[in-house]
Parts: sequence; C-alpha cells; structure tokens
Amino acid sequence: MYLIHNGVAVIQLDHPPVNSLGHALRKTIHTAVVAAQADSGVCALVLIGSDKAFSAGADVSEFGKPEQAAFPLITDVFARIDACTKPVVAAISGVALGGGLELALSCHARVALASAKLGLPEITLGLIPGAGGTQRLPRLIGVAAAYAMMQSGAAQTAQQLEASGLLNRVVERDVLAAALALALELGHGGEALPRARDRQPDATAARAFIEAQRARLTPRQRQLPANMALLDALEASTDTDFDAGLKTERSLFLGLLGSTSAKALRYQFFAEREAVKLPATLQAVPKSFETLGIVGAGTMGSGIAICALDAGLRVILLEQDAAALQRGCLRIADHYAARVTAGKMKASVAALSEARLTPTTDWTLFSRVDLVIEAVFEDLAVKQDVFRKIDAHTRAGAVLASNTSYLDVDAIANATKRPQDVLGLHFFSPAHVMKLLEVVRGTQTAPEVLATGMALGRALKKTPVPTGNAFGFIGNRIYNAYRKQCEFMLEDGAWPEEVDAALEDFGFAMGPFKVADLSGLDIAWRMRQAQASSRDPRERYVDILDALCAQGRLGRKTGAGYYTYTDGKAGKTTDALVRQVIEAASSRRGITRRPLLPEQIQRRALLAMVNEAALLLAEGVASRASDVDVVLVQGYGFARWQGGPLFWAQQQDRATLQTDLQQLARQSGWGFVLADLEPLLPTSGATL
Ligand code: 3HC
Ligand code: NAI
Repeated sequence: MYLIHNGVAVIQLDHPPVNSLGHALRKTIHTAVVAAQADSGVCALVLIGSDKAFSAGADVSEFGKPEQAAFPLITDVFARIDACTKPVVAAISGVALGGGLELALSCHARVALASAKLGLPEITLGLIPGAGGTQRLPRLIGVAAAYAMMQSGAAQTAQQLEASGLLNRVVERDVLAAALALALELGHGGEALPRARDRQPDATAARAFIEAQRARLTPRQRQLPANMALLDALEASTDTDFDAGLKTERSLFLGLLGSTSAKALRYQFFAEREAVKLPATLQAVPKSFETLGIVGAGTMGSGIAICALDAGLRVILLEQDAAALQRGCLRIADHYAARVTAGKMKASVAALSEARLTPTTDWTLFSRVDLVIEAVFEDLAVKQDVFRKIDAHTRAGAVLASNTSYLDVDAIANATKRPQDVLGLHFFSPAHVMKLLEVVRGTQTAPEVLATGMALGRALKKTPVPTGNAFGFIGNRIYNAYRKQCEFMLEDGAWPEEVDAALEDFGFAMGPFKVADLSGLDIAWRMRQAQASSRDPRERYVDILDALCAQGRLGRKTGAGYYTYTDGKAGKTTDALVRQVIEAASSRRGITRRPLLPEQIQRRALLAMVNEAALLLAEGVASRASDVDVVLVQGYGFARWQGGPLFWAQQQDRATLQTDLQQLARQSGWGFVLADLEPLLPTSGATL
C-alpha cells in the first residue's frame, strides 16, 4: 500500500499510463492516507506518481458512469487529505492536470521537478475544476493568476510557476528526495505550513476583478456555459467559509457535467485519440524517417518545412528556380525571427531549427531523403511530372507523399514505378499552425507506408486522420456539400450575411461566404470552369459566385467578393449589386424568394454535412464516424463544443432528422444523393 522511508509514508500512484483518478486509484489513495494517519511509525506522507504523470486528473471515461459516483469520490479523497493531521507533500513529475493538480493542492506542500507541467484544463472539457481547484488555487496564487490558468486551460511548467506561490520547492532532479526532505522537516515539527483552505481570500479586490471579467466575456465565450460558471465558482472562493465555497463549486461542476457542450467536448477528447490510430485492419509497423524532402517552397511547402524542422527532422527543400527558393527561405526565416521577437522561442532554438534546413534546386540531393512531401501547384500534369523526378532521384523504399487538396492520389502514384510507396498527406493552411492532417490511402499504398504517414503526423504534433482516396477526401468533400447547400439558400431567399450570421451563431468560427471571400473566389471559379464540361445540366448549379468573379469581385484580396471591404473590413450587409446578382439567379430558376430563419439555415447546412458524411462512411472513405467530426472541428472551424456534424445528428430526434433530410433532398434537386443515416444514429436508449 505504501513504503516507509525514515518515518515518511510514500504513497505511489500507479495507474498507467497517466494516473487518471479512476475509482481503483481513488480507493488506493484513500486507504493509504487513512492507514498512514493511524500508523504511529509515520510522521509525514509523500504522494508521488510516475515520471510521465503525477496525475492527469479525473478519469474522463468514468464521467456519467456508476464508478464516478462510487465511494470514495474524488472529493472524499481530498477531504481525507485535508483532515490528515500529519503533513502531506505532493512530489510532482510529468503532468499534474485537472483533478491531478487539485490533488496536489489539497496537500500541505508541493515539490515539483522544474520540467513538470501543471494546469487546470477542465474548461477544454466544458467543465470547471470540480474538486477544490477554484477554491484553493486563488488562495495560493491570487484570483487573477488563478483565473488566467483556469480560463485558458493551458499548462505551465513548474519552472514558470516557481514564483507564483503554488509550489514550495522546484528542483532539477530527484523530486522524491526533495519531497522526503521537506516531509521530514515538517513532520519533525518544522514551521507549520498553512493549508490552502486556511488562507484568507482577498475578497474585495477579488470580487471587483470577477465583476470586470464577467463584463468582458464575449458573446462567443458566453456560448460555453463553463465560462460563466468558472466566474461564479471563483466568486464563491471569496467567501471566508471554505467548505461553502467547495459546495458551490461542486454543484456548478455537476451541473455542467451533463450539458451538451461538456458531452461534445468529452466526445472530441476521445475521438481525437481514436483518430490518430489506424483501424485494426490497416495497422503496420511504420518506417523510420530522419530526413524529409519537400518539393515546392510556396505557402504550404514552407509551412510544412517549419513544422518538420521544429520536430527535429532534417529538411531538404527543393524549388524549381533560385528566386522561388529564396522567397520560400525568406518566409521560413521571417517566421523564426517573429517567434524570437515575440519571445515565443529562444534564438538558440530557432537557430538549431534553421540549421537543419538545406534549400536547393538540385534534385540529386534527394538521394538522402527518407520521405518526400510534394507541395507544388494543384495541377495533375505538373504533379505527375514532379513525381517522375522524385521517382528518379529517391532511394528505393522512401515514402512519397503529395499534399494535393483534391487530385486523385492514384493518378499521381501511377506516374512513378512504385505506387505502393505513394500516399497523400493533406496538410491545412497555415501548415505550421493547423493540427489536422488527412493521411490518404491510395489503391496501392502499402500498409507500412500508410502507417509511416500516420507516424509522421504524430511526430509533427498533428492529428493525423486516415482517409480513402476520393475527391476532396473527407474534409473538402463535406465542406463542398455544405457550401453548395449554403448557395442554394441564397437562391431560395437568404442573403449571404444571414447565412453567415446563423452559422456563426451555431458556433462556426466564420460563415461560409466570409470564408470564401477570405480564400479568394477565383480558386472555386477555376475549379468550376474545369468541371463545366462534365457537369450534368440537370444538376442544381448556383452561378452567383461565377457572376461575382466575372465582375472582378474575387474576394477580400480585390476589396470585394460577396461582401465589400473597406480597409480590409467587411461591410455589415452585402451591397445592392450583389443582391441584384442573387435575385437574378433566383428568378432564372423561377424561385419566389422567401426569407429563411436562422434555425432553418443552420439545419439545412448541418443536414447537408451529415448526409455527405454518411455517404463517405458508406463508401469506406472515412473509417469511423468520429473521424469525420475530428476533421470538421480541427480543419473547418466547426465549434468543438458542438462536437462535429455527426455528434450533432446523434443528439437530434431520429424521426425528425429523417423527415428533414428527405425535404433537403427535394430542396437540393437533381444530383443530391440521399444517404442512409441509420447506421450512424445511436440505438434507442443509448447515450454518448
Ligand atoms: N481520463 C481518462 N483517460 C485519460 C485521461 C483522463 N483524464 N488522460 C489521458 N487519458 C488516456 C487517453 O485517452 C489515452 O488513452 P488511449 O491510449 O486508450 O488512447 C491515454 O490516456 C494516453 O493519453 P494521450 O494519448 O493523450 O497521451 P499524451 O502523452 O499525448 O498526453 C496527457 C498525456 C497530457 C495527460 C493528455 O492525455 C491529457 O491532456 N489528458 C487530459 C487531462 C485533463 O483534461 N484532465 C482533466 C480531467 S477533468 C477533471 O480532472 C475534473 C476534476 O476537476 C474533478
Ligand atoms: P503555392 O503556389 O504557394 O506554392 C507552390 C510552389 O511550388 C511554388 O513556390 C512553385 O514555385 C513551386 N513549384 C511549382 N512547380 C514546381 C516544380 N516542378 N518543382 C519544384 N517546385 C515547383 O501553392 P500552395 O498554396 O503552397 O499549394 C501547394 C499544394 O498544396 C497544392 O497542391 C495545393 O492544393 C495544396 N494545398 C494548399 C492549401 C492552401 O490553403 N494553400 C491547403 C492544403 C493543400
């Protein structure tokens, strides 16, 4: 149960991989503390975890299940520590997150390795700390610092927190020895340390701070109930009665636990961890890689180079001419200079990253690369030509990837003599910022090549999601269906700003017409022109975008698209000229325009996404429903706290959903393929 070192009971938390505080571990800690309290041979206690984790907090998979409510609750364990008359010291290495940090806060003292990461990330799960964090932390580090930590959910290192008042000692090595020394000191009558609960809050200043923060919450922040609840819990911490504050915190926490946003965020937490694993039938051992070859140093190539350099990989960056190469290198150098100036990266670390870069126009250097990522223009002939060169210059067994957004990966692979080594790696822009990476399996892609793509994604700290080779893969195909439906709604009677506002109210980071203006309407225009000859005339085709482009309105970059921009800012409403274009499109189709309510707009847009997602799953392009939701949230601005389109569908009334989808099919006209949603919807009585 515990080992005794010189009269100090050392309680080891041993629940791999991250010491989440599930029922069994709670019971172990509780029993050990009770025993150590009663043991006359023990003068003090030390709680210690593993090198990886002191504790990652409450076991999220227990939420909503009977184990969560079984004795001892997390609060029972902490109350037991609180009531212990012998000093209890937390020895923190690895991570102390959420309930894990709250466990440390309930101890009399905390000793941490400088590298340990501490944080209260409950807000990222739509919750607030529910085991004393909102009450103890402000008493230790002040209300403003505590709020910053809980509101961002971000972890900080012990080194960063050294002067905050949260930690008693920060050490470079041997945290157990340091914790034992402090425990012995305290256990043998050293100066008594006041527990967090015994400290008095600075109530007046804290209340003023909390009031000011309430007023500052943006409408978007108010969409997540946890943001308000956090301030309510902090307000309770200004009460001198600590236990009353704890009760308020607990009831706010329990109230949030069943909210849709908390369910959605929990779902995303597990969906992200599932997405990065290949389904069992596709698993294989990845190849190793140290040197990456990147072809094309444009927007994407330079962004991909930055994340590879930051991950410690060597990069050979190839361009077609010296001028283009210089532009790419400048982009990379500017990025590092800006990071250093902003204090986000040490100059020495930036220099090391940059030193791993070899810019070149010489293909023969590619004999050294383990993995190639092509990021040249989105043109099949150009890409095929580049892949022939890659084939000629890379060693046998190297993995060859294309960053194409829409093109057929098989057509690219077949330009080489080794299609089994080719796959798609679809990064998102900006590539060094966006977490999503679609890993595209071509018809002939070998399992270990696919596994290498996934492993590269993880090495680059991305969320790699496996997808089949279909036009637009998962994300762009669903986004196209959504955007198309939004264009139908323009013809049916809505204005762009109404569609954008309704979808932003739902939680999208930006409405579809603002996104289109930002990316430039000409990209879609060119693609539509390329597809014109193969388009079936019976298809409902909205030509508003084409008409805008024909008038030179290419989006924000030309000062006008769906919106008109003044000093880069969009007007609140679309102007008369755009409305005329839209009205003309409606009348050409013989539509009498009728206004659409925000809920109708949201529902149609979401149903279009759900339908397309169901088709992708039926075709085997997406492996798991949860993968689709991860893609939409991480790559397309779908609000994380709404869970993703399929999570949304699973919350809807089944019969209404089916009826509405039939109606959507009628509204969308010829060419709309109605999917079978049945396999995606939970069986009755099941909960997520
Ligand atoms: N509960 C349940 N499972 C957890 C967990 C948790 N708190 N934290 C991690 N896990 C699981 C993951 O699901 C994963 O399982 P898998 O191998 O079956 O997929 C495994 O542990 C390893 O996790 P990662 O893949 O994320 O490993 P990393 O090394 O990349 O990251 C970590 C480790 C930084 C600890 C990260 O897992 C993490 O951030 N965890 C969540 C921390 C958190 O949000 N804690 C707050 C919980 S809510 C709470 O404590 C409420 C309290 O206030 C009452
Ligand atoms: P870009 O135009 O910024 O860069 C392309 C670069 O490739 C140019 O610098 C060009 O000189 C170089 N290049 C062209 N032919 C070459 C050749 N034969 N050899 C070596 N270099 C050559 O284009 P961008 O935006 O970086 O896109 C690249 C690819 O990434 C495209 O396939 C695009 O569809 C895809 N993509 C783009 C995204 C975006 O938002 N820009 C997002 C995701 C994927």
